Amino acid sequence: MSKLIVNGGKRLCGSLRVRGAKNSVLPILASSYLTQGESVLRNCPDLTDVRVACRILRMLGCRVRRAEDAIAVVPDGAAGTFVPAAHMCEMRSSIIFLGAMLARTGQACLSMPGGCDLGPRPIDLHLMALRRLGAVIREEQGCLRCTAPDGLRGALICFPSVSVGATENALIAAVTARGCTRIRNAACEPEIVDLAAYLQKCGAHIYGAGTSELYVEGTARLHGAEHTILPDRIETATYLTAAAVTGGAVTLCRTDDRLLRPVLYCLQRAGCGIRCEEGRISLEAPQRLQAMGSIFTAPHPGFPTDAQAVLMAAAAGAAGETRFTETVFPRRFRHVAPLCAMGARITVQHSEAVVQGVPQLHGASVRATDLRGGAALVIAGLAAQGTTEISDVCYIDRGYEHIETALAQLGAEITRKEAASAGMC
Ligand code: EPZ
Repeated sequence: MSKLIVNGGKRLCGSLRVRGAKNSVLPILASSYLTQGESVLRNCPDLTDVRVACRILRMLGCRVRRAEDAIAVVPDGAAGTFVPAAHMCEMRSSIIFLGAMLARTGQACLSMPGGCDLGPRPIDLHLMALRRLGAVIREEQGCLRCTAPDGLRGALICFPSVSVGATENALIAAVTARGCTRIRNAACEPEIVDLAAYLQKCGAHIYGAGTSELYVEGTARLHGAEHTILPDRIETATYLTAAAVTGGAVTLCRTDDRLLRPVLYCLQRAGCGIRCEEGRISLEAPQRLQAMGSIFTAPHPGFPTDAQAVLMAAAAGAAGETRFTETVFPRRFRHVAPLCAMGARITVQHSEAVVQGVPQLHGASVRATDLRGGAALVIAGLAAQGTTEISDVCYIDRGYEHIETALAQLGAEITRKEAASAGMC
């Protein structure tokens, strides 16, 4: 179990390369199980969750190897249909393998993914979509036993609410189903567009990716393909915000401002100068940020829920009041308590958090509560006076590749320390 030690007050300056998107590489790795022949995925971040996904592919019978930031997958001959409970607990988004396993083998067995730090994580929309495509799914003693006795067939799928993962599972299951599928009220996230782009390179016929209506013409076989994963928009938001809270000036490379326009707008409202060029975003921060008014999280193209905690850390030391309304995961405020332990003034009522900015946060010993909440504590530590110790760093490692190395490259005083004391990880 390791800790991050942050000595705050250092101004972040310089440039940093952004890695590939965790939430794109995971569904693309899962969908590679649909194909015959080798796929090579480039710009893959080296994260805990990515390693879990590669382990699952190997368990299903695929050959998987990594060379630097490229992952090669060869599913030929693979016929696995089972994801052990341990992997489902390790990464609840392993549910994304369900559609691919059903499509390739006609059956799948995996344990129900538990809740997580963001609250209950239902999968009813995933199951509804797969049943519409012909899957027979029984929930027995915490396990999902799924079969597609007559294979998967095209259908009309109307989601009652937007779900990124359920849209991805439906799309993955539909691309080799017999006939055509229409998916209404689909998620529009950039990671869905990236998944569709990879599948189209594999021979899939997908129309409307990035809009709320997808149309898929099923095709019998998909071949492997080469694909470069799109930049991680939440990592981009995290490192820009880290510079913003320290009055810094940074340039992030190999990113794309089109992926996080609402976040950039909030940082500009906070007083930051933002300049965007091809693949690069530069930020210049004021000595002290201004409050950002009201921020509502929403499905893309709205303000991303994954950036809520990160921007809240910035609001904690800004001049004035910022209100966050969390509409995607209403209980996504577990980072509030540790931020308050660092001197932040935040009150939570239902799905709204009101932040009264304070002139100075102070260092403290805190625990990461989840991936993005942990990143928020690192950002608060960079702004705080004194030293902050952050434990349960494993949460952060799920979504940021060596966060301390990246931030130290920008001038932060941050180190990782192995700790003996028991923690969540
Ligand atoms: C994806 O999670 C991301 N994870 C999350 O990022 C992100 O916060 C989320 O989308 C929203 O953008 C990955 O892509 C691996 P949802 P997902 O299904 O697919 C409810 C991070 O920090 N819902 O869009 O699980 C659900 O409870 C992670 O990188 C149902 O009710 O999110 C939530 O309230 C955290 N039934 C809402 O929909 C279902 O069957 C949106 O969830 C599925 C979801």
